[in-house]
Amino acid sequence: MGRKNPDTQRVSPNEIKSTGVKLEDSTKISMEGEKQQSKLGRRLLLFSAPFTGHMNPMLNLATILYSKGFSITIIQAPYFPTNPAHYPHFTFKLLDDEVLEKYSKSPEIDSSVVISAMNRTCEEPFRDCLGQILRETAVAEQDPVVALIADPMWAFSGSVAASFNLPKIMLRTGNMSAFLVYCSLTLLNEKGYFPPQDTTLEEKIPEFPPLKVKDLPSESDRHILQAIVEGTTTSQGVICNTFEELEDYAIAKLQQTLTIPIFPLGPLHKHPANSVVNIGSQDQTSIAWLNTQAPKSVLYVSFGSIAGMNKDEFLELMWGLLDSMVPFLLVIRPKLVKGSEADDPLPEGYREMMGERGHIVKWASQLEVLSHPAVGGFLTHNGWNSTLESICEGVPMVCKPLFADQNMNARHVSENWKIGLKMERGVKRDEVTRAIRKLMLEEGAEMRSRITDLKEKATHCLEEGGSSYKSLERLTKYLLSFETFQAIKE
Ligand code: UDX
Repeated sequence: MGRKNPDTQRVSPNEIKSTGVKLEDSTKISMEGEKQQSKLGRRLLLFSAPFTGHMNPMLNLATILYSKGFSITIIQAPYFPTNPAHYPHFTFKLLDDEVLEKYSKSPEIDSSVVISAMNRTCEEPFRDCLGQILRETAVAEQDPVVALIADPMWAFSGSVAASFNLPKIMLRTGNMSAFLVYCSLTLLNEKGYFPPQDTTLEEKIPEFPPLKVKDLPSESDRHILQAIVEGTTTSQGVICNTFEELEDYAIAKLQQTLTIPIFPLGPLHKHPANSVVNIGSQDQTSIAWLNTQAPKSVLYVSFGSIAGMNKDEFLELMWGLLDSMVPFLLVIRPKLVKGSEADDPLPEGYREMMGERGHIVKWASQLEVLSHPAVGGFLTHNGWNSTLESICEGVPMVCKPLFADQNMNARHVSENWKIGLKMERGVKRDEVTRAIRKLMLEEGAEMRSRITDLKEKATHCLEEGGSSYKSLERLTKYLLSFETFQAIKE
């Protein structure tokens, strides 16, 4: 039995059809609405990977570029697409791909299976879709298309765009420190660091402080990481959801080695254009519960939208959390515990022991939660969006990374920016308790002061004259320098 997707911004292709928010209708409405030319008279095509941690930043970027005067077309894969009703000012196009549409009916399918299907089956549907958009916009004399902005997880997007002579810019949704590592996999391999032979290796990597060998991605990620690097470095530019004050070293280093321009525009969700996007509150109960708690007393616990952990690890975390005696708001979404078919993976009696001290939901409005005055800490898997969102609200972290870039992100949080405590693999319940109490009750003040400093920098960089503000001006000029696509009007 497929379980319902807890992220209410996203729907199955069928749900879109059956709820009357038909993609075709919303496409038509937007297209007609945009017949009058946009301020800049230029259209951008945006193509996101179909995962929450990738779609959120892409939609935030779309809103920012729309506010600068571009028309926006969002191309979506039929795997839990974003509900177009939330973005009536964009045009939406859905790829015609049976494999991903089928996976949308089985949410328990692993993300790695979805990623390999994306690149195996979507190239031709994407080519058809791109060709159709280019013809339609030309025939209807709508704003001409100037560029494709794609997620580098789509390995074929560059070659398809090139076949239409369309410039391609990449949106890197993760951070640039991790991207620098991905660009250096050959070097790391020659030096014997990658792939890590032993996931407990404490050895430091001198070229990439403060990373340790055990933080590096695993061999199974090599193929997709190489595709991401290849796709990005052969594009006409890369936009990233970070800011210079946070990642100056990695950005400068990449700028020296890459021949393409880099546009750090982050934090994208904090750009003023995104404050008006109303996607509706997804979980009223969390905020109501937080309203009853003392300032900075609550630990928010969430592990993003796709990462899973094994049952033993989950139980140690849950018992450690309970033993800490700290109030907590806990997100347990479907698929969080690998192999668990139970609706509630918590041990019997847990909820009774927790009582009023905790509140458990399947999905939270994370941005609202992190900005709530009662929240004093975040136990996170350190997906890049969660990490950046925590920084933007000045909430220090207990880090429990699970896979992909998360170990590297957690290392930067704990040892570079010193705004969190990292728990290592195989953590036991008493260590979990200790880390939580240390952050929430003992040594949190210093970390809070450092993260408040970063929060201020994250705010200033978006203001007039700030680093991300200037990057956006530079990007806008760059996009306007591309020639508009001239389709043959047959
Ligand atoms: C994935 C990868 O796991 C991560 O390593 C990579 O950096 C980005 O892509 P994900 O695991 O979903 O992302 O984590 P994250 O990057 O933190 O993104 C999750 C998003 O979902 C955040 O924007 C967060 O605000 C949102 N979220 C999560 C909610 O709104 N509610 C929740 O309950 C949980």
